[in-house]
Amino acid sequence: MAKQKLIIFDTTMRDGEQSPGAAMTRDDKLRIARQLERMRVDVIEAGFPAASPGDFESVKAVAEIIKDATVCGLARANEADIRRAGEAIRPANSGRIHTFIATSPIHMEMKLRMSPEQVLEQAIKAVKWAREYTDDVEFSAEDAVRSDNDFLCRVFDAVIKAGATTINVPDTVGYSIPTVWGEQIRSLIERVPNSDKVIWSTHCHNDLGLAVANSLAAVLNGARQVECTVNGLGERAGNASMEEVVMAIRTRSDLFGCETGIDISQIVPASKLVSQITGYPVQPNKAVVGANAFAHESGIHQDGVLKHRETYEIMRAEDVGWTTNRLTLGKLSGRNAFKARLGELGIELASEDAMNRMFGRFKELADKKREIFDEDIHALVSDDVVDPAEDHYKLVAYSFRSETGEAPQAKLTVSSGGHEQLEESTGSGPVDATFKAIERVAKSGSELLLYSVNAITTGTDAQGEVTVRLMRDGRIVNGQGADTDIVAASAKAYLNALNKLHSGKEKLNPQL
Ligand code: KIV
Ligand code: ZN
Repeated sequence: MAKQKLIIFDTTMRDGEQSPGAAMTRDDKLRIARQLERMRVDVIEAGFPAASPGDFESVKAVAEIIKDATVCGLARANEADIRRAGEAIRPANSGRIHTFIATSPIHMEMKLRMSPEQVLEQAIKAVKWAREYTDDVEFSAEDAVRSDNDFLCRVFDAVIKAGATTINVPDTVGYSIPTVWGEQIRSLIERVPNSDKVIWSTHCHNDLGLAVANSLAAVLNGARQVECTVNGLGERAGNASMEEVVMAIRTRSDLFGCETGIDISQIVPASKLVSQITGYPVQPNKAVVGANAFAHESGIHQDGVLKHRETYEIMRAEDVGWTTNRLTLGKLSGRNAFKARLGELGIELASEDAMNRMFGRFKELADKKREIFDEDIHALVSDDVVDPAEDHYKLVAYSFRSETGEAPQAKLTVSSGGHEQLEESTGSGPVDATFKAIERVAKSGSELLLYSVNAITTGTDAQGEVTVRLMRDGRIVNGQGADTDIVAASAKAYLNALNKLHSGKEKLNPQL
C-alpha cells in the first residue's frame, strides 16, 4: 500500500530563533531558507512578522525567493498580527498563516486573562482574518498538553468550521510522554468533527528530552505534520530535532505508514549551516549530526563494522551528508570559480562590492590555508559584515604575546564609532587579555555567558570558529568570528556580539 505523506514543517527560523542569542538577520534567514528548500522541506516557518520590522522583512524576503516550499508566518490571534503576517507572505508561491492562542486554564487565566469563551471567539475570528489572505491557515492551541480535552475539541471544531486547514497540537512546555501524547492525538482526531478534512500536526518541546519520541508517537496515532527544527534548536531545551524525526521515520519505515519527502543527503550540510549561523555548536554525541554519530570506538564494534557494516550501523553516514570535507577551492582558484561555488552553495551576495570584499577575504584565507572547504566558505560569509558601515566596533589591528613565565598580553586597535583607540591588557590567557583590552574601549558592562571554539574542518591549519555569548540588561546576543588564528577569531566574535548589543534591534517573543 502506498505510504501517506508526512509533512515536515521547519520552524528553525521562528521557534529556533527563540533560543537565547540565536536571532538571525535577513541574510542569515535567506541562506537557511535556501538550504531548507534544497532539503525539500514542505513548510518553512520563516518568522513572526509582527515581532519587529526586521522580522517582517525577513519573512517577506524568504517568501520572495522560495519557490518549492510553503512559506509560513506566525501570528498571535489578533487582527494586527494576522494582517502583518498576511502582508509578509503575500509574495510567496504558496503561503501559510499560522495563528495561535493558548487554551490551557493556566495560560488563559494567568497570561491572557481571558475566559474560555473569549478564547474560543478570538480563535474563530483569527482564522477568519487569516483566510482573507490565504486558503492555507494553521491553527495552534498553545499549551494543548495542559488543556482540557473537551474544550480543545470545541475549539478545534470551531476553527475548522472557520476555515483552518491544519490543526497543530503543541506540547508547548515539553510535559508529555509518548504513550500519553499519542493517546491525546488519537482521541482528538477521533472526537473532532470533520477531522479528516484537515491535517493534524504536532509541535513538541524537549524539556524532558522527549520531543522526538512524542512527535513520533503522534505520527503513529494519526498526525501527518511534524513541526521541528534543525539540530533541535528552539525555546529552552529546544524543539523536536528534524534530522532525528526524519531518520527515525525512514529507518523504521516498517513501523510508520507514512514517509517524508526530505532529501536526506542535505541533513548534515543543513546542520552545519544552522550551527554556524546561530553559534550553537552540535554536541558530538548528537544523533545523526553529531561528530561521533557514526564513529566506532570499541574494538569489538570496529571489528564488527569492518566485517559487516550493519552489525553496528542502522544508517549510513554518507546517506545523511557525512562526506569527508569536500575540497572546493585553493590558492589558485579564480574569481569565477569562487563565484560559481558560492552559487552552488546557495549564497547570493548583495552587490559587486560584497563579491569583491568576499573574494579578497577568500584569497587572504587561501594564503593561510592550503585547501578551502565548503565549511570555510560558509564561515567566511557568516563572518562577513554585510554593510561594514553599520558596525560600530571594528578590529583594526592586533598583536598578542605569550611567553613562559610572563602574563599573556594583547594589544589591539579598535575603531569605535569611527574613532580609533589603542588599548593593551594582560590576562590569564591570550583570549582573556584580548577581551579585557576590547572592554577598555567598549566599556559595555556586559557579562560573558559563553565562550566556545570549534574547528571548522580538520587539520591544524583549520579555521577556529568562536562563539561569544554576552548579556546586558537581560538582553542576550551571540557573536561569531572565524580565523585560522583563534585569538583573532575570538576578538572578532567578541566585537560581533558587542555590535549586536549596540544595534539594539529588539524583537518580541511570541510566547511572552
Ligand atoms: O510551543 C508552542 O506552543 C509554539 C506555538 C506558537 C505553536 O511555538
Ligand atoms: Zn514552540
